[in-house]
Amino acid sequence: MRIAFFDSGIGGLSVLEEALSRRPEVEFLYYADTDHVPYGQKSRAALIDYAGSAVSFLLAAGADAVVVACNTATAAAIDFLREQFAAPIFGMEPAVKPALAETAGRRVLVLATPLTLREQKLHHLLDAVDPAHCADLLPLPGLVAFAERREFDGPAVQDYLQQALAPFTLANYGAVVLGCTHFNYFKDSLAALLPAGIQFVDGCRGTINHVFHTL
Ligand code: DGL
Repeated sequence: MRIAFFDSGIGGLSVLEEALSRRPEVEFLYYADTDHVPYGQKSRAALIDYAGSAVSFLLAAGADAVVVACNTATAAAIDFLREQFAAPIFGMEPAVKPALAETAGRRVLVLATPLTLREQKLHHLLDAVDPAHCADLLPLPGLVAFAERREFDGPAVQDYLQQALAPFTLANYGAVVLGCTHFNYFKDSLAALLPAGIQFVDGCRGTINHVFHTL
């Protein structure tokens, strides 16, 4: 069994790491579409094109299943990919439901790319799981550029995050959803600015549970 992962760059490696740590005997392929990063600031039509090419490439390389290790590509292109290809295609979405379950009525801050935050997929999810409107949305496209430069902390990252978080009363929040796989590398930088005890919820474990359970 060969399972392929793809993302615009290094973000999806955090999802692959979860898979590798649990099933080291499985063969994994990883495709980083660095020609087209950042996905989060492209159109849906462009994403459908990039994701289609990535999946075609991975299936031709012998993949039996593909994990779209990218919330943005999933939001824009998962329906198209599933129509287009017969192989199992798994997606990712911001882990809003588990975050709401962990916070017992406190607010949840959903961090993702601009494209993920404006796509219908997320808004349908919020309608289904957040009837009390406890979730607030914050795009952080700058973190994708920092991650691709391997700059995960330091003054520039802290300044960027501080400015982005300034409009929020952070003491009201119980959890932060890392709704972009590139953001998983910034937990320490975010934790330095957020109230102690805030929960970070990413989609890695849930996605990989689903992949292994299904295959
Ligand atoms: N890592 C991707 C995600 O999970 C997107 C990063 C990008 O904008 O390229 O949404």
